[in-house]
Amino acid sequence: MLKKGIFTFSVMVYALAVILNGCKKSDPIAENSTDQMLYDLAKTSNGFKWYKNSDKQLAKSSGSAHSYSFLRTRYNAIAAENLDSQGKIIEGKTFKEGSLIVKELSNNASALERYAILYKNSSSPDGDAKGWVWGYINANQTVADAASNKGRSCTGCHSQAGNVDYMLMNKFFP
Ligand code: HEC
Repeated sequence: MLKKGIFTFSVMVYALAVILNGCKKSDPIAENSTDQMLYDLAKTSNGFKWYKNSDKQLAKSSGSAHSYSFLRTRYNAIAAENLDSQGKIIEGKTFKEGSLIVKELSNNASALERYAILYKNSSSPDGDAKGWVWGYINANQTVADAASNKGRSCTGCHSQAGNVDYMLMNKFFP
């Protein structure tokens, strides 16, 4: 009787674990995945330039679907070739291969919670039609939207009028 009780209890715990796991919003980064590569790239910050030359946290814009209160965006050396002297994106100029743009998202300006990443890498199996790879990865190394989704939930909004090779910072933070 006791044994049966323990068995039933174990089955219930297992079922609960499966349900909770299914509801989880984000999964751990898979080893050797594009997400892992993007995460590693996003974590380095040497040689990056900030949008409008400022690392100040910006309050999120009205157009943003990114559900965090604060953001700031930085560009690696290759992507920074597309910034003008004020640190704004040069209109009408496509980003080169190897360009990496990292938007840091947080609710509390002192704690980074999520990286939104754009990486120009046409040879990646996860690149979209323009060669961009889309990353949406939490600072705690879980994936919010896998790169293998090829930015399906991102490109619609990032194609809106006023974008420059998908970039929206100019439009919302002129
Ligand atoms: C409904 C609109 C919308 C959707 C959907 C959206 N974004 Fe954005 N994104 C914005 C806006 C607006 C900005 C400008 C900064 C801000 O206000 O957040 C932005 C900025 C960015 C930037 C900084 C570069 C730039 O200038 O645009 C990156 C990187 C980015 N988003 C990645 C993503 C990823 C990855 C996804 C999908 C998982 C995504 N975005 C989905 C609206 C959107």
